[in-house]
Order: sequence, then C-alpha cells, then structure tokens
Amino acid sequence: MAGLRDFHMGENRFFKIAQITDLHLSSFRNPGPEQRTLALVEEIAEAEKPDLFVCTGDLAWRHDCVPCMKEFCRFMDEHRYPWTFAYGNHERDYGPPTRVLERIMTESEYCIFDRGPDDVRGQSNYAVGVYNREERLRFLLWMVDNCEYTTLRGRPVTAYIDSSQIDWFTEEKKRLSTEFGDGARSLFFMHIPLPEYQHAYDAGAAVGNCLENICMPEINSGAFAAMLEMGDVLGVFVGHDHTNDFVADWHGVKLCYGRTTGYCDHRRGGYPNSDFARGARIILLDQQRVDRLETYLYLCGGEIVRQEKGEDAQ
Ligand SMILES: [Fe+2]
Repeated sequence: MAGLRDFHMGENRFFKIAQITDLHLSSFRNPGPEQRTLALVEEIAEAEKPDLFVCTGDLAWRHDCVPCMKEFCRFMDEHRYPWTFAYGNHERDYGPPTRVLERIMTESEYCIFDRGPDDVRGQSNYAVGVYNREERLRFLLWMVDNCEYTTLRGRPVTAYIDSSQIDWFTEEKKRLSTEFGDGARSLFFMHIPLPEYQHAYDAGAAVGNCLENICMPEINSGAFAAMLEMGDVLGVFVGHDHTNDFVADWHGVKLCYGRTTGYCDHRRGGYPNSDFARGARIILLDQQRVDRLETYLYLCGGEIVRQEKGEDAQ
C-alpha cells in the first residue's frame, strides 16, 4: 500500500506527538538562530518524550533548503527522534525540486517520508499508521501537501486541497477500514489552514492566540466536509501563521494551529523576531479511549499552556 508507515504501541497506552512547525532553518554556516531552534527541539524531546515529531512545513528556507534539510536529518538521526514531514510554502520558494529534498529525507534513518501516489497532486501525501499490541490500527496520521500556490484565471492564489487529494484520503481510509476494521481515528497534518479555521474563529470557537490574519485558500474545495464525512477525524494541525496558535472545536473536529518552533529573524529565515515564545503543540492519543484527543502547548523553558474554554490565552 502506497505511503503507509507503521508505529506499534506495544504495551503503551498512550501515543504522544510533538508538532513542530515553521523552523525556517536558513543556514548552518555560522552560529545563529538555527542552533537555538535545534536546542529547543532537544528540550521538547527531553521534557515531553514524544513518540514522534511531526513537522508541518517551512522546515527549511528557500535557497538553503538542501544543506539545512541535510543538517536537520543528521540532527534527528543522531538523537534518534522519529519524525514525519509535510511541505510548506518556503521549501518551494526559489528552492530545489522536491526530488532533491525527498532523497535526503528517504535516506535518513529516522525520517518517515513518502512522496505519495503520482496521480495525487503534491509531493508529501501519505499516511502513518499507529497499531496497538493486537495489531489493530488505532490511529491514522495523514500528511497532506498544500502545494503552495495555484493559478486561477492567470492569477496566483494560495492553493487548496484538490479533488485528487480528497479522493486519495477518503478512498484510502475506506480501504484501510476494510483491511483493519473500523476502529481507527484520523488526524490530519498540513501547512496551510483550511477555510474552516476562519469560520471557527469568526464564530467565537477559537481558544488561544490569533495575532495575525488566517492565511488560507480563497477557494473552499470541500476538504473539511470530506473529513467530516469520514466520521473518524479527531483533529487538523497546521502551521504557516507564526503568531496564531489557537484550538477551535468545529463540528466535533479540533482545528489546531501548532506553535512556531523556529527562532529565525528578519536577517535569517524570513520573519521578524518577536517575543512570542517558541514551542510545540503536544498531542496525546489514548488507545483505550480513541475518541479523546488531548492537546496542549509546550513553550521554551517548560511552560505548559492548556487552551480550553474559559481559560485566558497566553
Ligand atoms: Fe513559515
């Protein structure tokens, strides 16, 4: 089956994911913010002990994508941190063909990556399976490529998840349900928020920070509707907007931003430095209660932020 990789929980009841996002690694030629970013990844690993890191794009920055991807893979291999990746927009801005980055990731021992089916748009569409001790599929982690831009009537616009991608994940889910039974739950990881993030925010459902515009596709292609119809989706996890980190419960699905992990600044890595603490979103899955998704933020230095209705955003 194309693109399914496995995790086996064994005796463990919980499966923990650390979502890291927008690291914007720009250069390792001289000491700079990149070292601070990798130190934060190490801190998160030591404090939270995740089973898996998921990187939701903008890992590496434009021209220097190749050396930065090599260095990040070397770092993750050296520390034995398993991780998955979905492309962001900046890996493609003036960057190398994705085949170059793909080769680096697939040669890395601890990177779980698959380009995905050739007839599906994008270059990082794949699913990672999490199985329990009895080899029952409990969770499916869907990595989806947002593809950056598309052209509509000659004008470039933020790409939407297209019909080939929606068909892929809905058909693949049906096939897996037939093969492994219907008990698994799905989580989606991608770089760019769905239009429903704006709807949920406008409806007052968001808890957490929304300090900049929600940069989403102009076109709603129905990806969220397809997820709702799948009936098993616990949450969607994105990056892209560096000072948004909210969670919104929207029709029973948690729409979540990650927490920006990269320390880059306007000289290196493309966005202004700020006092917005860097961190990660932690996702805790319970194989005995598969419908329960616990998530919180880990901030540099060890602060934990739980975003629940009635609590103040930080
Ligand atoms: Fe970014």
